[in-house]
Order: sequence, then structure tokens, then C-alpha cells
Amino acid sequence: MLNDAVSFSSTYFSTSSFAYIWIPLLILISKDLGFANAQSGIFLQSKFGDDSVPLSTSNCPATNPRLYNRPVIGILSHPGDGASFRLSNSTDASFIAASYVKFVESAGARVIPLIYNEPLEILLKKLSLVNGVLFTGGWAKSGLYYDIVEEVFKKILERNDAGENIPLYAICLGLQLLSMIISKDQNILEGFSAVNQASTLQFVKNADVKGTVFQRFSPDLLEKLSTDCLVMQNHRFGVSPKRFLDNQNLASFFRVLTTCIDEDDKVYVSTVHARNYPVTAFQWHPEKNAFEWGSSVIPHSEDAIQVTQHAANFLVSEARKSNNRPPAQEVLNNLIYNYAPTYTGKIGSEYDEVYLFTSPSTASTELLSRL
Ligand SMILES: *[C@@H]1O[C@H](CO)[C@@H](O)[C@H](O)[C@H]1NC(C)=O
Repeated sequence: MLNDAVSFSSTYFSTSSFAYIWIPLLILISKDLGFANAQSGIFLQSKFGDDSVPLSTSNCPATNPRLYNRPVIGILSHPGDGASFRLSNSTDASFIAASYVKFVESAGARVIPLIYNEPLEILLKKLSLVNGVLFTGGWAKSGLYYDIVEEVFKKILERNDAGENIPLYAICLGLQLLSMIISKDQNILEGFSAVNQASTLQFVKNADVKGTVFQRFSPDLLEKLSTDCLVMQNHRFGVSPKRFLDNQNLASFFRVLTTCIDEDDKVYVSTVHARNYPVTAFQWHPEKNAFEWGSSVIPHSEDAIQVTQHAANFLVSEARKSNNRPPAQEVLNNLIYNYAPTYTGKIGSEYDEVYLFTSPSTASTELLSRL
């Protein structure tokens, strides 16, 4: 009854031409609200009947204590400057396209950059501060970068095995590297023609989207994914469904959710979800639709933006389930806010903004002095 009155009045309150009619009524209602507020805690408790929610002295009921609402996602930097040497020629340079950072931030998490070529103990220390990890796109498939991806991936599996729910998103190159690592086959990748193109996503027969990144998509949007070009591709390599499923290790680790077709009508695996871990790998780029403008073929329709938003929300919702509670000050010391992005879209980079890391980083020097 009271709720009805409140929403009724606020509807009219925003319609300024009618506001004057309602002013006397509003005064009456706000008097009533004072009374209601004093009791709302009790009202909400009985409404939800949930004993696990602690009694709150404020008007806002406590949120689910099992969920961590201050999650932090580690993003691994990739070799290079992200701008074809226009920012740095240093062989030590690595970068994170800011679109991945915005993707994570848009869903309610903060980012700690995991700088791939920092001393391993520093990188692992930073990894201990996060509730989820993201591997970006790129080209590096060997050397230190490959080894670090493998090391971080192992740590994520270990932490999940130990009972923490720590999600991983592996995007584009990330899917390819996980395929190489899990299959234990350095030659698992095949060539595909999917550079700079928007595509549809084809769900495999009887794909079960429950508990996956697609769980939050409306039936309408799921349908549109298979008919409209709502996702961005930019890759020369991939794995065909046959190779993927023929490899026992890959087939037992991942469930294939979607495939795509390249410019030569060759089919590749495009979204996979781990059977027993909160690990999702994408051959496509969920982060680009909302945050990259360099290529004219990147989809920016409202549907396409929803794809980005749902994908970001799923990662962060999984990270909130992580039971890692890192020391607040150490998190602050290492957040990406210790770095400034550079606008590179204007000078022709494929990324609009990049975070550039040239070692040793300030954050790591600081950390090193305290180790
Ligand atoms: C990197 O080297 C190239 C070729 O020598 C040069 O044109 C470019 O300006 C250099 N970039 C930077 C950031 O110094």
C-alpha cells in the first residue's frame, strides 16, 4: 500500500507541470515515510524470510555476505606497445588495451595489471590480490609470455581446486593459448581468415547456456546472435571443432558453446566454457563493441553493446564469488589507477587507448621495496 503511494507520487513528481498539484500530498507522504523508514528493516526481513541476512541498523539490508562486492580482476599485459612502435621501441614494453580495463570496470570491478615480464615473485604477489583474471588478445604464442600464461593458468586452477571461485576470461589469443596449453599440442592451431570482421555466433546443437556467459542473455538476444553480426573477430588462427573435440584433453576440459564461420567458410570454435572451472574462452572480442572505434566494422548497435555488457557482468559476477579478501592497501598500491592510458586511436593504433608498461614499473618498485 505504502509502496504503491510512493511510486505513484514519484512518477508525478518528475512531471514538473503537475508537480504543484501534488506538493501537499507529497508533504503528507514524506511524513508517512519517516514512520515507514523506522520499520522498513523489520519489514524487509520478514518479506524475504532469510535468516542468513544479518539484521541491519540502516535502511539498506546487508548484501549476501558470501559475495564480495569489491572484486579486482588481474589483466595480463602483452608484449609490445600496442601502437606499432609509435609509443615505445623498448623490447621490455608491454601493454593492455584500455578496452579490457573499461570492460571490467563497467561491470563493477577494478583492475590490477599483471605485467608479464616483471620478476615472477612480483607477478605472483599481484595475482594473489585478485578475484579473477583476463588474458587479452595479441599475437605472442611462445617465449616468456606463453610461459607466464601457463603459470597463471595453473595457479587459477589450483586456487579453484582449493575452493576459491576465481574466474578466467581468455579472449582471442587467450583461447588459442589455453588450447595449446590444455591440449599439450603446440600445433593444435590452424589458419583461418577472420581478420577485422564482424560475425554471428552459431550455438552448437543442444548447447546448454546455463551457468555460462550466455545465461543472462535474453532469448531474443541469443536468437539475434545467430542471425546478426553482433561480435567482432580479428584473428588468423583458431581451432576447428573437429580438432578441438578429437583432443581428449581439450574435449574433457571444455564444453564448446558456439562456432563461427570464417571468410573461406571454414568453421572454428568461438566460445568454450570449462566443465569444472569458472573459465571461459572467446575467439571473438566481447570487449570491443562498447569500447573500440578504430575499425569501422566493429558492431556498436544497442544489441551489440548488450553483448559486451552481459559478458562483462558474467565475469565480475563470478569474481564476486571468490573468497579471496586481499589487504585493501596492497590492492590500492597496485591498481591500474597508478598508470595513465595514452590515446592512440588518433595516431592509427587498432586500440583507442592503451596502458603502456616499461619496466621497472613504479608500482612494482614500491612493492619490491616492501618484500
Ligand atoms: C621507433 O623506431 C622507429 C624506426 O627507427 C621510429 O620511426 C619511431 O619514431 C620510434 N618510436 C619511438 C616511440 O621512439
